[in-house]
Amino acid sequence: MLTLLLYIGLAMVVAHVGVPLVYYVLIYMVASRRDWDTVVNRNYIPKVSVVVPTFNERDVIEEKLNNIYSQNYPHDKLEIIVADSSDDGTDQVVDRWASSHVDVSVKLLKLPRQGKVRALNEALKIADGDVVVLTDADCLWTSDSLANAVAWLGSRDVGVVSCLKKPLSSEPVENAYRSLYNILRVGESKLHSTVVFHGELFAIKRDVLNAAGGFPINIGGDDTYMGIRAASMGYRSIVPDNVVCMEYVPGRGYFRWRLRRSQHLIQGLVSTLSLRKPRRYLPIYITEVYIHLVNPWLLPASIILLAASGSVIGYVLLAVGVVALAWPPFRAWVFNQVILMYSSLRNMWNRELVWPKVPKA
Ligand code: GDD
Ligand code: MN
Repeated sequence: MLTLLLYIGLAMVVAHVGVPLVYYVLIYMVASRRDWDTVVNRNYIPKVSVVVPTFNERDVIEEKLNNIYSQNYPHDKLEIIVADSSDDGTDQVVDRWASSHVDVSVKLLKLPRQGKVRALNEALKIADGDVVVLTDADCLWTSDSLANAVAWLGSRDVGVVSCLKKPLSSEPVENAYRSLYNILRVGESKLHSTVVFHGELFAIKRDVLNAAGGFPINIGGDDTYMGIRAASMGYRSIVPDNVVCMEYVPGRGYFRWRLRRSQHLIQGLVSTLSLRKPRRYLPIYITEVYIHLVNPWLLPASIILLAASGSVIGYVLLAVGVVALAWPPFRAWVFNQVILMYSSLRNMWNRELVWPKVPKA
């Protein structure tokens, strides 16, 4: 009986570490080094609506608007929609900025505070671009992020383009996690589509968005949901390596911040489970769902079994695990598993559709 516990525990450890590891190595070796099988189209220069949802972004909104303004994209093809629910005077900064930048169209929406997704849907009602680009107020693009994203959308099969993220911080856990994640995003995109998208830059063709029916208001992960939805409709939803966004990472409140984002990611994954997926996308989607929803639970399960087995091998393995926590990538991994488990549970009583503002470092 105890040996059985040991074997099941061992099998769980192997699966817990092995499945993501094998997947990562496969994506890294096979996918991420491949050439793209879709082409950028620099002649595609559609009207673009850049939508910035804002809740109390007074301190960053001007820099954000300047950053959009300095994109190498024609101003007459650009409109900026600020969907604002602030009570800190963000709207006054936007108004002032708009009156001194008259060559680009700025629409300012005053909305009650009902969460980001509702604000996005209000903005869509007045957006008249052929491409809609969502972007958070507290992040910055490189000067060619927008033009590059749009050029990828110029390919007929691409429906969604999102960005790679570079944290503007030296937080080691966040950085380790990002570099790993970025390789996965690009590799999956080269195979078909990825599953994780970023509100820092989320570009989508208007007709794809319309066909999907806009953003469901009960899903916090608007980007994740819509990216997967578009891929399920047969489009490519990609994160190319030349579309980059820098974001500020909070110093305090880091755990809550990661937790809420993870909750929203899980909402996006769960809400797309029943959609039919293209054949090339299905293995990517299934593996990511396994890694985010199932795999984390093998960690506590295997710890319990190994401890209960009473065997020396079990104890040695547990000791190795504890020692390995000194190694930052492993620590980041375990931290992520804890966040994923807690977010799945927390979604049952609090979906965080309206969330408190986390001050950035
Ligand atoms: N209008 C409006 N109303 N805007 C809001 C609201 C709201 O109630 N809540 C947040 N926002 C705006 C913020 O001002 C910011 O521009 C953007 O939505 C993202 O919110 P943040 O508070 O900055 O969240 P984050 O930095 O963790 O954002 C990431 O996670 C979110 C999901 O948890 C990004 O990936 C977001 O795109 C994503 O939605
Ligand atoms: Mn933010």
